[in-house]
Amino acid sequence: MKVDDIMDVALRRGFIFPASEIYGGVSGFWEYGHLGTKLRQNWENAWRRHFLGLDPNYHEITTTNIMPKGVFEGSGHLENFNDPLTSCTKCNQRFRADDLVQEATGRSVEDLTPLELSEAIRAEGITCPKCKGELGEVNLFNMMFQVNIGAAGGLTGYLRPETAQGSFVSFKRMFEVLRNKLPMGLAIVGRVYRNEISPRQGFFRLREFNQAELQIFFDPDAFEEHPDFETVRDTVLRVKQFGSDDIVSLTCGELVESRGIGKFYVYHMARVQEFYLTTLRIPPELFRFRELGGKEKAFYNKVHWDVEVYMETLGGFKEVGGIHYRTDHDLGGHEKASKQRLQVNIDGKKFVPHVLELSFGVDRNFWALMDVFYEQEGERTVFHFPPALAPVTVAVFPLLNKPELIAAAEALYTRLSPHFSADYDRGGSIGRRYRRHDEVGTPYCLTVDFDTVEKGTVTLRDRDSMAQEAVALDTVAATLIARLCP
Ligand code: GAP
Repeated sequence: MKVDDIMDVALRRGFIFPASEIYGGVSGFWEYGHLGTKLRQNWENAWRRHFLGLDPNYHEITTTNIMPKGVFEGSGHLENFNDPLTSCTKCNQRFRADDLVQEATGRSVEDLTPLELSEAIRAEGITCPKCKGELGEVNLFNMMFQVNIGAAGGLTGYLRPETAQGSFVSFKRMFEVLRNKLPMGLAIVGRVYRNEISPRQGFFRLREFNQAELQIFFDPDAFEEHPDFETVRDTVLRVKQFGSDDIVSLTCGELVESRGIGKFYVYHMARVQEFYLTTLRIPPELFRFRELGGKEKAFYNKVHWDVEVYMETLGGFKEVGGIHYRTDHDLGGHEKASKQRLQVNIDGKKFVPHVLELSFGVDRNFWALMDVFYEQEGERTVFHFPPALAPVTVAVFPLLNKPELIAAAEALYTRLSPHFSADYDRGGSIGRRYRRHDEVGTPYCLTVDFDTVEKGTVTLRDRDSMAQEAVALDTVAATLIARLCP
């Protein structure tokens, strides 16, 4: 199975592995090894370059992982951030009720209430997947991890379940710091925590994970417009609309006209798709937006489309991100709970800004890269990662264990390593070294041979075409840069 093959490479080569492994691990917690950390960081940096580059007033901030209870009263998470839970009356094992009903019926049940889920469990005759015992009534379970702050434990806090809240509680100060301008974007890339009832599907549903989120604060009267909309009007988006099973291609202009969705929203959909198709190089047929409606939408959203990538290892299109029109839900809630004014005054017009959130799960995107770019080509295992995202960009090898070749290869590695993610490898035959680097997705290998010493050239081997060419030593860096930034 592809998932086992990828997991084998991931574990053996240092991409990911279960957390606290020597103690048996806990489901939903994973570590990143040295190559996984680089791949994740490269994804995060590509995300920063793309999304912070959309507007000069979009910036990244860093906020705390632990926040006091008041924040989550204001945001509504204490009341609403719940999953439906059912327990086996025989073995006490707990399950997400919506997962069990969805598996049994094959339809999406995200909008069912606990009572409706209880009825569906009875109607479908669903029993405990572990012991076949009877399942109890469905209740709501709050997914936040609570912590006691301070030695006396007098202050209750929570590990943040989304990075977004850091941007909302920092809005007042950052708006002043950035000189009272809208739209203003505040991005956070960092850890979040959710006490998922049944973290399953390996690396997909985690309890501690990473998000990259951009909160765009804007004047709600400007939702129908975007100054750059004409640049994306004819961009074709792949969309699955609420209530339909089909993926259709619609231009941004058609989506605005046929569905009445604001140009501000649709403009950002086009930029999100551009990130997936151009920067991440996800093949278009493996990408789509899925519209959520009714109770499927997160409690804070007015318009909600998920970003989905088809992953063979997970058996279909899976959510990797979302575009959320959160309105003034958060700033309004924090205004009430904190008793601080979060209204702005722009040219005499007073209002609470609305928020468009571009939200991405970093770990799910990481897995999407592993899934989409993995290939078994005969004897050769290869990750065809986009070169700029690969954990190692260039590997340097001396052809033979001869002192003059080793010295020249080490000198080349020393020259390249401050500027590129580089590796130096002198173990085994050249063929084996190529295979080792194909297996972790290294796009370029440089072999130092006698021509290097005599003529000043090195052999550049391309991972995807496996073509080899001689490149002058003093143009190697420029050649790599040209290929990384075509
Ligand atoms: N701030 C909005 C928000 O948190 P979300 O849909 O709950 O929205 C955003 O989460 C993204 O985080 C999802 O699209 C998904 O990629 C990722 N995500 C959510 N729950 C996750 C989990 N348990 N494990 C890994 N990633 C998760």
